[in-house]
Amino acid sequence: MTAAHKVAPSVLAADFTRLGEQVREVEAAGADLLHIDIMDGNFVPNISMGPFIVEAIKRVTSLPLDVHLMIEGPERYLKAFADAGATSLNVHVETCPHLHRTIQQIRELGLSPGVAFNPHTPYEAIREVLIDVERVIVMTVNPGFGGQKLITGVLHKIEELRILSRVLGNPLEIVIDGGVEPGNAADLVRRGATVLVAGTSIFKAQGGIKAGIDALKNLPEPA
Ligand code: DX5
Ligand code: ZN
Repeated sequence: MTAAHKVAPSVLAADFTRLGEQVREVEAAGADLLHIDIMDGNFVPNISMGPFIVEAIKRVTSLPLDVHLMIEGPERYLKAFADAGATSLNVHVETCPHLHRTIQQIRELGLSPGVAFNPHTPYEAIREVLIDVERVIVMTVNPGFGGQKLITGVLHKIEELRILSRVLGNPLEIVIDGGVEPGNAADLVRRGATVLVAGTSIFKAQGGIKAGIDALKNLPEPA
């Protein structure tokens, strides 16, 4: 498939004893951007990393840093992640009672705003802000951990978002996050995904990182 979709390695699955090396490796292997998962042990059951790690990653790569905030009260930390070198900040609709305001705050910091939503959250919950964001992260696993299986029952959201993106005239990036692997990637892109996030299937790919990225980039043509 020649679709110009992007591949975003999720550094959560990297070997953190060799983080710089692994980031350089995905960049050399053709990653389009990096996906960085921030978890607070509150909104999600796991704790991952903060602005300090984002700042460290920034020093070893020129790839865009797309930061996925799985934290309560994300508005408290937008500036810290902006200062750390994030290119774009994505907040969860489930954590933002004033989502429109939070999105404007991201823009005021000079960054690209995005909104993420959980598997059980209907796309209608974010419909009113689709005109204000540059990307939507469709969660295809319950956020908190890498290495989970993609939930197929939510995939219709991709087609719905593609239609809404056209209707609104806003060329949204449609980002799929969770359980992406070579066996489901072509279906995701066919439905309208423009960015595939992948942790396990890249950093733990049998043939190594380059093979993992290639397998998500060079997808089979539809039959
Ligand atoms: C899950 C994270 C994902 C995760 C994906 O909460 O948002 O970005 O790293 O990992 P894999 O690709 O292993 O499902
Ligand atoms: Zn993520």
